[in-house]
Amino acid sequence: MQLQDILYSQGFGTRRICAGLVQQGRVAVREAGAAGDVVCTDATQEFDTRDLMLNVQGADWPYHAKAYLVLNKPAGFECSQKPSAHPSIYTLLPAPLRQRPNKSAMAGVQAIGRLDQDTTGLLLLSDDGQFIHRMSSPKKRMPKVYQVTTKHPVTTQQVERLLAGVVLDDDPKPVKAADCVQTGECRIDLTLTEGKYHQVKRMVAAVGNRVEGLHRSQIGALELPADLVPGQWRWLAAHELRLLQG
Ligand code: URA
Repeated sequence: MQLQDILYSQGFGTRRICAGLVQQGRVAVREAGAAGDVVCTDATQEFDTRDLMLNVQGADWPYHAKAYLVLNKPAGFECSQKPSAHPSIYTLLPAPLRQRPNKSAMAGVQAIGRLDQDTTGLLLLSDDGQFIHRMSSPKKRMPKVYQVTTKHPVTTQQVERLLAGVVLDDDPKPVKAADCVQTGECRIDLTLTEGKYHQVKRMVAAVGNRVEGLHRSQIGALELPADLVPGQWRWLAAHELRLLQG
């Protein structure tokens, strides 16, 4: 693929901007197995994209045909592109990830499902429409684990009711937790396989308690990586992606 097209595909701007970056000597390339970066000033030069490392204006950028990211969402950020009262999680990502061209109307990566502004933890983002669809499809019943801190001590009866199913205001069909484990006086780990609006908060309220803190620790077999501090993101490793697709 031509270097200008590679940069364009990664979100570094229009093809013209990308060609300009190359011609100005701001792009170095390291092909798979090569020892060091080589500055390339020919925007039309072809490269094999497999394991290609770009360096654009001093910053390393591994080529990815599709983006699969994990973010440790901090409290105080909204998952919307157009947030109403708090900054958007998208401001935590570098510009190329927000600009990557794709076939859908929306450029850049998209959050897979939403967490409330005050919820923390594991959030996946991607620009692969099929992957987003698969991960968020209710049919897939992808389990998600939430660590819940409650206002009042959790009772055995509340745990039993969460497992048996509770009725939420917008749907007569009860929703059940796939699992609910009490981990402290005011703490439970709740596993859900649906993603209804404010589902954890509404389920906990329906059994007569109240959510004071909410953290998503796991999606499918993927746990929030321990090395990610709140606000930090990284590319998913191939084995992590397989855990989600398995
Ligand atoms: N359930 C909620 O109530 N809030 C979240 O952010 C996620 C699940």
